[in-house]
Amino acid sequence: MLKNLFAPLQGYTTGIYRKAHAEIFGGVDAYYTPFLRIENGKPREKDLRDLEIANAECANSRCTDIAEENAREIPQIIANSVDEFKILADALIAKGYMEIDFNMGCPFPMQVNRHRGAGILNDKQTVQEIMDEIRKLSSVTNGTAPAMAKVTAPIKFSVKMRLGQDAPDEAFALLPILNEAPLSQITLHPRLGKQQYKGAIDFKSFEKFYEECRHPLVYNGDITTVSQICEMERRYPKLAGVMIGRGLLAKPSLAAEYKGMRDINCAAPLNSNTHQNLLGKLFQMHQVIFDHACKTNQGDSQILSHVQSFWEYLEPSIPKKNFKKIKKAGKLSEYQEAIMEMRGLS
Ligand SMILES: Cc1cc2nc3c(=O)[nH]c(=O)nc-3n(C[C@H](O)[C@H](O)[C@H](O)COP(=O)(O)O)c2cc1C
Repeated sequence: MLKNLFAPLQGYTTGIYRKAHAEIFGGVDAYYTPFLRIENGKPREKDLRDLEIANAECANSRCTDIAEENAREIPQIIANSVDEFKILADALIAKGYMEIDFNMGCPFPMQVNRHRGAGILNDKQTVQEIMDEIRKLSSVTNGTAPAMAKVTAPIKFSVKMRLGQDAPDEAFALLPILNEAPLSQITLHPRLGKQQYKGAIDFKSFEKFYEECRHPLVYNGDITTVSQICEMERRYPKLAGVMIGRGLLAKPSLAAEYKGMRDINCAAPLNSNTHQNLLGKLFQMHQVIFDHACKTNQGDSQILSHVQSFWEYLEPSIPKKNFKKIKKAGKLSEYQEAIMEMRGLS
């Protein structure tokens, strides 16, 4: 079976979302957090706080398990230089994280123009410097640097990347550097940064990368059904896993349904998830997120901005008129009424 990894989506897969998903739907082997970045020369406080929500139970024990499920939570960082990389990696290591993912794929102009995410893919020198730093950090245990004082096992590093910002040659020019680095995994989203999240996926380049990559490779991009996961498993026997973002937000039971398959032909589900079952679990998950939003935010608009995003990708799973009412709600009372109506309680 392929590993199913939950992709990070800034603004959607928040700490409370990841925790509630692991508890209520499960089926995911690891949750990748939206990227931690530098703000005023330091790791951004808001990003660090969000990491702590999902790990409230195990913050002191250097454990990366999320909730009671055994899914791992892997923090991600984005950086434009080895200096930024070091600050962020040190902060996570000091917090006890043993695995860190490095973002070389974010296509948002705010990051790309600052030479981060997909904007770093055409800079072999900076990537080489960061890989050298990864080599240092992943070989040091019980090091002298304060951040490494408690570390007793090697830190693992992975990379999430695209084919390039402007052309797929960028990924292939970097591959020899990445192949030499001690990475635990590479996740490839086979689009260019300039495509953002739309347009054709370049399977031809993905296949070339799959053949030439010496690390465990994870595929990411446009997976929305169990049969697509099965198809990836059949087509790419060496693949280490699939990372799914929007597909899991739209159907949070997707990974659990795949895990419930008896074989890779997708022929025999062990337990079928009815639509009613899915809705029941969605309401349960929503309640956790709603309660958390009310506890941690003040005022209708702040709370609404957190809870309305929960439904955004779920449009196909809920009746249209409920979806519209949820989206249109400008007051908390209107929002609650829309939810009650959908649950058949009003
Ligand atoms: C709104 C939004 C926010 C995202 N935030 C991140 C992020 O913080 N880190 C990251 O590596 N990718 C981020 N991504 C990319 C996703 O992780 C994923 O690669 C992308 O959605 C394609 O996978 P999918 O087709 O399964 O959704 C984001 C994507 C979107 C649409």
